[in-house]
Amino acid sequence: MTDHDAPHDDASPDEDRRQSGDAWRESDATLRSDGGEPSEARRASSELRSDGGAAGADDVALDPWGSSTVADYRKLFDQFGIDVFDDILPGVPNPHYLMRRSVIFGHRDYDRVASAMRAGDDFAALSGFMPTGDPHIGHKMVFDEIIWHQQQGGDAYGLIADLEAHAARDLSWAEIDEHTRSYVLSLLALGFDPEAGELYRQSTNREVQDLAFELGVEANFSELQAIYDFDGETDVSHMQSVVTQMADILYPQLDEPKPTVIPVGPDQDPHMRLVRDLAARMRFFGVTEAYASFEATATERPLLRQAYNARTDYADNPDRPRCVEAAGWLRRTRPDPSEARESAIEKLENAGREPIRPRTRIFDRRATEEAFDALIQAVDGDKRVYDEHVDAFDLDQEAAEELARQVELDNGGYGFLPPSSIYHRFMTGLTGGKMSSSIPASHISLLDDPEDGYDKVKSATTGGRSTAEEQREKGGKADECPVYELYAYLLSGDDDEFATEVYEECVGGERLCGGCKEQAAELMAAFLEEHQEKRAEWEDKLDELDIELESDRRRD
Ligand code: TRP
Ligand code: SF4
Repeated sequence: MTDHDAPHDDASPDEDRRQSGDAWRESDATLRSDGGEPSEARRASSELRSDGGAAGADDVALDPWGSSTVADYRKLFDQFGIDVFDDILPGVPNPHYLMRRSVIFGHRDYDRVASAMRAGDDFAALSGFMPTGDPHIGHKMVFDEIIWHQQQGGDAYGLIADLEAHAARDLSWAEIDEHTRSYVLSLLALGFDPEAGELYRQSTNREVQDLAFELGVEANFSELQAIYDFDGETDVSHMQSVVTQMADILYPQLDEPKPTVIPVGPDQDPHMRLVRDLAARMRFFGVTEAYASFEATATERPLLRQAYNARTDYADNPDRPRCVEAAGWLRRTRPDPSEARESAIEKLENAGREPIRPRTRIFDRRATEEAFDALIQAVDGDKRVYDEHVDAFDLDQEAAEELARQVELDNGGYGFLPPSSIYHRFMTGLTGGKMSSSIPASHISLLDDPEDGYDKVKSATTGGRSTAEEQREKGGKADECPVYELYAYLLSGDDDEFATEVYEECVGGERLCGGCKEQAAELMAAFLEEHQEKRAEWEDKLDELDIELESDRRRD
C-alpha cells in the first residue's frame, strides 16, 4: 500500500497502446477485488487461528469482548502486522509522555496522522468507551490520548458505546446511563474541550447508525465469524454493535476524508483490521501498479518490475520490451521456483507481444457509471481505457489516489482514508496479574475515595527484593513493578526527569519500596482528589452539553 515506486516511463510514444485491437485485453472480472489477495482482516485472523494452538493461545489473545492478555508484545508485531511506535516517534511533533515512554508501543499507519500534524492539515482522533463500570486509570490513558490530539489541533471525539454495552454485556439502560455520565465527567475533568470536540452516545447518533447500515452491506457473517469467532449463538444486536463501531471509527470522515487516529488497547485491533478493509471496500476506485494489461498479484508485481527494469538485457527493442521476452528473461535469471514466478511467467507469456510498460491502474470498485466516466475524463496524459479500469501512464500512484478520491467525492462517495490506530500497553494489576474491574484491589477507579486510592497503592505488589539489604545490593526490579508503572503511566505526568529518577534510584538500590510506595500513594491520593474536584465542577455544566444523559430507551 505504501509502495510508491512511481512507475517511470521513458515516454516513448506507444502506438501499441493505441491500436484498439485489444489483443491482450483481459477480462476485468479479476479487477473487482484486490487481485485475489486476502483482506487484511481475514489474513490476520487466519494467522491468529493457525498459530493459536501451537504458541499457547494465551500468549496473544486479542478478543474485544473476552479477557485480553498480552504476554509478549513483540508477537503483535509479527502475528498481526502492528508496527513499532518507536520507529515513527521522531516524526511526531511534541509527543505525549505515553509515547515518549513507550507505553504507546504500536500503531497502524499513524504516520498518516503525524504528517498531517506536521503539515498543519486536518486530522481527527476518536475513541469509544463501553459504559460497563466506573472509569479507571486504564481509561485515563485513552482519555489523555484523545485530549492530547485535540490540543495538537485535531478534531476530537469521545463516544459512549452504549449499544455495544447493551448488546455484548447485557447492561440495562439505567446502568448504562449512570456510567455514561461518569465517563463524560472524567473526560471533561481531564481536559476534553466539548466546544471544540464532540461527545456522543451510539444510541442517539443517527448518522452513525445510517453509516453502520451502509457498512453492513459490505460485511457478511462468515467474515465476522472468522474475525471474532462468532457462531450461530451470537445475537444479531452483537453483530450490529460491530458495524456500529466501524461507523464510529469512520464518523469523523463523514464531512470530508481526513487522517484519523483511534487510540485503543491492542484488544481492539481486530476492529481496526476490519474497519480498514471496509473503508477500502466503500471506495469507488482502487489504485494499483501494473505492468501490462493483465492484473498481477502483490507477489508477482516485484518480479514484473525487475523484468521491466532489466529490459536492455533482453529486448530486441529496449524502447518496447515485449511481455514474452520478459517471460524468457525471468525464466533464465530467476531459477528459484516459486508460485509467484511461475504465475508471472505464465501471464507474461499469455500477453505475448504486448509491450511491458509500467502504469498506474485505477479500477472501478463500486463507482456509478457517471463517476467512472468522470474519472476517465479526469485522467490527464497517456491513458488506456478498459471496461472497468483505466491505465494511466503519466500519473504516479499518489497522484492517482488523490485524483480518484476527488472524483469520488465530487460524485457522492465518501472517499474514506484508512483509519490509523495507536496501541498502549495494558497496565499490570496492583495485586500482580491482570488489572481487572472485577478485582477492585487490582485497579484504581477514578471515583475511588482518595484514601482508598492511597491504601491500594500502599498494599500493591512491587518489584522489590525480599530484604532491604538485598534491595540496596541488587536494586529493585522496576521493569516488573506495578508501582513503577503507576509512576510512568500516570503519576509522573509530563515530567520525564522524575520518572527517570524513580527508575534509576530503584534499579540502583537507592530507593526502597516502603518509601517509594508512600510517595506514589500520596501522589495518587492527590491526583484523585483533584480529579474529583474537577468532576464536581463539571457536574453543574453537564446540562449545557449536547450529549443526552438519559436514554429514551429506559423502561424503569
Ligand atoms: N469496543 C470498544 C470497547 O470495548 C468501544 C468502542 C465502540 C470503540 N466504538 C469505538 C473504541 C470506536 C474505539 C473506537 O471498549
Ligand atoms: Fe517498585 Fe519502587 Fe520498589 Fe522499585 S522501589 S521495586 S519502583 S516499589
